Amino acid sequence: MKERPGNIFTFHDEVLGKEDKEALLGQRAYAVWMTGLSGSGKTTIAKILERRLHAEGFLTRLLDGDNVRDGLNRNLGFTAEDRAENIRRIAEVNKLFTECGVITINCFVSPTKEIRSSAKNIIGAEHFLEVFVDTPLEVCEFRDVKGLYKKARRGEIKNFTGLDAPFEAPDNPSLAVTTEGKTPEQTADDLYRFLHAKIKRK
Ligand code: ADX
Repeated sequence: MKERPGNIFTFHDEVLGKEDKEALLGQRAYAVWMTGLSGSGKTTIAKILERRLHAEGFLTRLLDGDNVRDGLNRNLGFTAEDRAENIRRIAEVNKLFTECGVITINCFVSPTKEIRSSAKNIIGAEHFLEVFVDTPLEVCEFRDVKGLYKKARRGEIKNFTGLDAPFEAPDNPSLAVTTEGKTPEQTADDLYRFLHAKIKRK
């Protein structure tokens, strides 16, 4: 047991570890971290990917912005500070899942390099896979699936990513996928092929 400030005693050595859980599940745990603008297609791709992995016997957990913000993070908004806290908590949740051997599929705008790098540090670089869903702003705005770009243009939403709040594309993602001129199934397939070799236990 290790004593930490504030009378907190953490224990790591006696508990079953990630390797034990991965062996039980017959898979390798990774955090697939999809980043991209609102409406870029993250959740659509993730849902298809998750069903495919599930059908093949992999244990996964899909986490997305709208759902997490309706529960765990319902007290957070979209200031830079709240977004950082949103991602910090989500990264801690990811850590719990990956330590359990579960493959997480994350769909969060996570708009800055700093925010994504903090998630990577919490989760652990060795099982963090950054996937850039590279759909240009004009395309996301044209699709406007949730009607949020229209609201933001009318000034009804402040700090909207890509309009009056920044989005920094990753310089060196583990994978970049495109969605223009492709079906969601084709993009999900690109991601599946990248991921499959990594998650399968020999
Ligand atoms: S993040 O920036 O903190 O990573 P997150 O992925 O949790 O964002 O939430 C983004 C989702 O919240 C968007 O897909 C959209 O549906 C909704 N949303 C509401 N307001 C905003 C905003 N100001 N900027 C971006 N997304 C917003």
